[in-house]
Amino acid sequence: MTTVQIDWKNLGFSYVKTDLRYVSRWKDGAWDDGTLTEDNLVHISEGSTALHYGQQCFEGMKAYRCADGSINLFRPDQNAARMHRSCDRLLMPRVPTEKFIDAVRQVVLANEHFIPPYGSGGSLYLRPYVIGVGDNLGVRSAPEFLFSVFCVPVGAYFKGGLAPSNFTTSSFDRAAPHGTGAAKVGGNYAASLLPGHEAKERGFADCIYLDPLTHTKIEEVGAANFFAITRDGRFVTPRSPSILESITKYSLLDIARDRLGMQVEEGDVYIDRLDDYVEAGACGTAAVITPIGGIEHEGRFHVFHSETEVGPITRRLYDELVGIQTGDREAPAGWIVKVR
Ligand code: PLP
Ligand code: COI
Repeated sequence: MTTVQIDWKNLGFSYVKTDLRYVSRWKDGAWDDGTLTEDNLVHISEGSTALHYGQQCFEGMKAYRCADGSINLFRPDQNAARMHRSCDRLLMPRVPTEKFIDAVRQVVLANEHFIPPYGSGGSLYLRPYVIGVGDNLGVRSAPEFLFSVFCVPVGAYFKGGLAPSNFTTSSFDRAAPHGTGAAKVGGNYAASLLPGHEAKERGFADCIYLDPLTHTKIEEVGAANFFAITRDGRFVTPRSPSILESITKYSLLDIARDRLGMQVEEGDVYIDRLDDYVEAGACGTAAVITPIGGIEHEGRFHVFHSETEVGPITRRLYDELVGIQTGDREAPAGWIVKVR
């Protein structure tokens, strides 16, 4: 077992080799039982479809240390269900929900000493993935698949965490109108590398993607969903078939409606109507809630609440969400799965 010397309060979002990861293989129509291994290298055929044709998908989720020492997973059934949708879209075999959650539990328990302490602001990020492997050359689905889960202790994804970040719109798209935007597949992220790089070179935290058909509506914020609060206090978030449906976003929608008593709607957020909103944020497992200070679009920079201060509703949403995840606030039925 690794002796862990980690500066828990200053974790970023970078790879750390933890002790054990779970690996299971699919062959001849069935998944094997899976096992934990110390080996963090993946040995696959050079003909693997994952390498050439992007036949792969992944998930992102976290384990949280609670004040009483127990360990929480947040809505892991939703990650399993989304991975089913991603596998269906890329013609890969589904990992059954029970197998998925069992693998995650095993990895968390086997690496328990890597879970950042309660109150540190960190958590244990879990990365489940499925890749097409085995000898192959033509464009077809792989003869074999690999399902693996590894974990890494993490802190804030966007620098500053709950401090506002600025974003700029991109003229590139991460996904096509009837493409794979709603699936969590590597190709979408490959397509986002250049636009993300260009935005960061210009001093922004990341870029905002507009709808690929008309480029008039906000879709996503880098690797996170978008939400905004209207002047009359409604929680609004884009609806589109090319958005990755964020589990965090749908949780915030429920929290805003059921706990903050807000009206909520999924609809169009036009990039030339930003004056309608008093607060905005990026949300996701890695991003948690990152307040959006301002958005640059076609040479104009629009500031929402403030470039330095978190808006009051964003803060309440954040406190409620993180409170539920870390066990400080009562969770809606079924949202928390205890690992221990
Ligand atoms: N959108 C994209 C493109 C993402 O990569 C993520 C991260 O998973 C999200 C949104 C947020 O989804 P979730 O809240 O389920 O983590
Ligand atoms: C997540 O929030 O889990 C993501 O997938 C973001 C990421 C690609 C770093």
